[in-house]
Amino acid sequence: MRHVWSAAALVLALGAAQVVAAEPVDIEQRIDRLLGQMTLDEKVGQLNQLSGKEFTGPATDKVRSMETEIRNGRVGSMLNIKGVADTRRLQALALQSRLKIPLLFGLDVIHGYQTVFPVPLGESASWDLEAIEESARIAAREAAASGIHWTFAPMVDVGRDPRWGRVMEGAGEDSYLGTRIAAARVRGFQGRQLGGVESVMATAKHFATYGAAIAGRDYNAVDMSDHLLHETYLPPFKAALDAGAATFMNAFNTLNGIPATGHEGLQRDILKGAWGFKGFVVSDWGSVREMVVHGYAKDLPDAAAKALVAGSDMDMESNAYASSLAAQVKAGTVPVALVDDAVRRVLRKKFELGLFDDPYRFSDPARERAALSDPRHRQAARRIAARSIVLLKNEKGALPLRRGLGTIAVIGPLADARRDLEGGWIVKSDAANLASLVDAVREQAGPGTRVSYAPGCDVACRDTAGFKAALEAAAKADAVVLAVGESWDMSGEAKSRADIGLPGRQGELFEALRAIGKTPVVVMMAGRPMIFENVAEQADAILYAWFPGSEGGRAIADVLFGAVNPSAKLPMSFPRSMGQLPISYQQYETGRPVRDLKNIVYKSAYIDAPNTPRYAFGHGLSYTKFAYSDLRLSAASMTPSGKLTLSFTLANTGPMAGAEVVQLYLRDPVASVVRPVKELKGFQRIELQPGQQRTVSFTIERDTLAFFNRKLEWTAEAGQFELMVGSASDDIRLRQTIVLDAP
Ligand code: GLC
Repeated sequence: MRHVWSAAALVLALGAAQVVAAEPVDIEQRIDRLLGQMTLDEKVGQLNQLSGKEFTGPATDKVRSMETEIRNGRVGSMLNIKGVADTRRLQALALQSRLKIPLLFGLDVIHGYQTVFPVPLGESASWDLEAIEESARIAAREAAASGIHWTFAPMVDVGRDPRWGRVMEGAGEDSYLGTRIAAARVRGFQGRQLGGVESVMATAKHFATYGAAIAGRDYNAVDMSDHLLHETYLPPFKAALDAGAATFMNAFNTLNGIPATGHEGLQRDILKGAWGFKGFVVSDWGSVREMVVHGYAKDLPDAAAKALVAGSDMDMESNAYASSLAAQVKAGTVPVALVDDAVRRVLRKKFELGLFDDPYRFSDPARERAALSDPRHRQAARRIAARSIVLLKNEKGALPLRRGLGTIAVIGPLADARRDLEGGWIVKSDAANLASLVDAVREQAGPGTRVSYAPGCDVACRDTAGFKAALEAAAKADAVVLAVGESWDMSGEAKSRADIGLPGRQGELFEALRAIGKTPVVVMMAGRPMIFENVAEQADAILYAWFPGSEGGRAIADVLFGAVNPSAKLPMSFPRSMGQLPISYQQYETGRPVRDLKNIVYKSAYIDAPNTPRYAFGHGLSYTKFAYSDLRLSAASMTPSGKLTLSFTLANTGPMAGAEVVQLYLRDPVASVVRPVKELKGFQRIELQPGQQRTVSFTIERDTLAFFNRKLEWTAEAGQFELMVGSASDDIRLRQTIVLDAP
């Protein structure tokens, strides 16, 4: 019997079809629909982020209260929760809420999750964008497999003052290098597009100018011209945004009297306005509340209102939004439209991550086991660490160490360090499973070589009682390696140092070794540039290893024995003295430049020190030699819409295969705003076999020559420009003048 649809059944079926068809597939429609169902309290809940450090301990009242908040839809994100078990458990609580909106799990995965890579400043010394992207990719793979959706990285703050401990987390002093590295890190963390279960959301932080804290003292005020802001401190953030950064984090500091967290000019006018940012901004830990302490808000409700109105979408750990934002909306102080906009931005990321379709998709036990046990990760960490180690000095053939030595003495407070290798900002130390430098030298020295070890002192090195044993060990050795520097917790957040010298009496240990005729090869570990004039003057060879990560001990040994030819270049200038700070290669000519060191009278100089750094930005040696020759231009001039090519020949004229980071610098000698004597405008890492040569080219276009003029317009002015190519900012090998024609 042919099924005859009754009219009613037909209507019901069509209606059901209509309902089914009404299920929006477009994310924006899904957001609209969900937002329309949300109460004001539920909206505010999405803007509230709590730290879950307490969840790892006993179930305290605070834990129970947080669980209740999550169950009632009053928490949008948790930070410091990791691992499949805990993320699944808390996600399940969130799904008990009325609208079942999943949580975002954020964590500081700064330079690795389980596999630790060199601290970011060290990794930046590789100038190897592929390696930097790969490192972030591996970190994302390990973190995402453990339930993490979101890392609070990369930190893209330009840092020109090594007193500031957080230079360790960034890419150094140069804005151009910073833009390239910021983009590489965002690509690494996020992959090609958000939503992949081996990717995490990135965070461009700390927006903005945190690295310019007065006197290098963490959390201190920042005061700078709009010109410097736009020319130097904003570009890495814009590069992160252009690379697709899903979120931004604002900063603790004030900028010209306004806390970054409450800075409408930064967050609404520039970031969300001019730049069109569609992700969301999270405050830094407690920074909403700190606006009261700054003296910018009279109380927490006032701080909440000022932060939200200024564009700070999510409140990390201030409890400002959770406790008072709804009341501010009801009182008319905060337009609900701004709350809705913030909620949309947060929900958009949760949809893009696929969390509404499967809230547990990142918390997969099998994937976690696979990712955390993949041997390729440690192999990559070793390779990238070796590429991050800078050969600062190498004379008298001190390095690489010869094989077959009778005895090598490895001396110093960092010689047998394991936890220090990892540096600060790690998720969980794996120190027990790491090879120290001594372990690695023993692994690589060969069967006939005895390796002795003596610390000499601890890192603080106030007590020199251990020097005697160290000198005895050195006296019997054919080669001495001295490992000195900072401990892992002497750089990073809240670790500013008023004296960035070698800690304690470490320098005296070096002197004592020299005094017995055993000048050591010096290996330095730190999270920042340090000052070590005596060592720099008297050592034959110095390697700067930063904090090189899980495989850092082996990577240092790879370089010591020549298994890896060092290729790293400094991302920050190294001062000779504290008095030179802040120091950068991007100096200005001034009206009285020092042209001749013998004549500094009435010149822009110190009467007691040179202007030049101990080691310049871009400096780094190799075990081989590179020759630059035959610079040629495709044309001597170009129109504003045109471009020209600069080419030259790079040859490996030495005994070993190696990589050279060739650097392109620009000088605009006459402009409507004076320009620095040098600006990095390009670089390439070129690998060559001994005797091999290659043509290296850079494309010069208007943007290469452009700068912000006095009206903050990005412009290039007709006239002459000097192009320079070199191995370091103070080692220019070739130069050529070009002309930009008038429009
Ligand atoms: C810290 C840092 C920030 C970090 C956040 C969460 O205070 O300033 O970089 O991401 O809190 O740990």
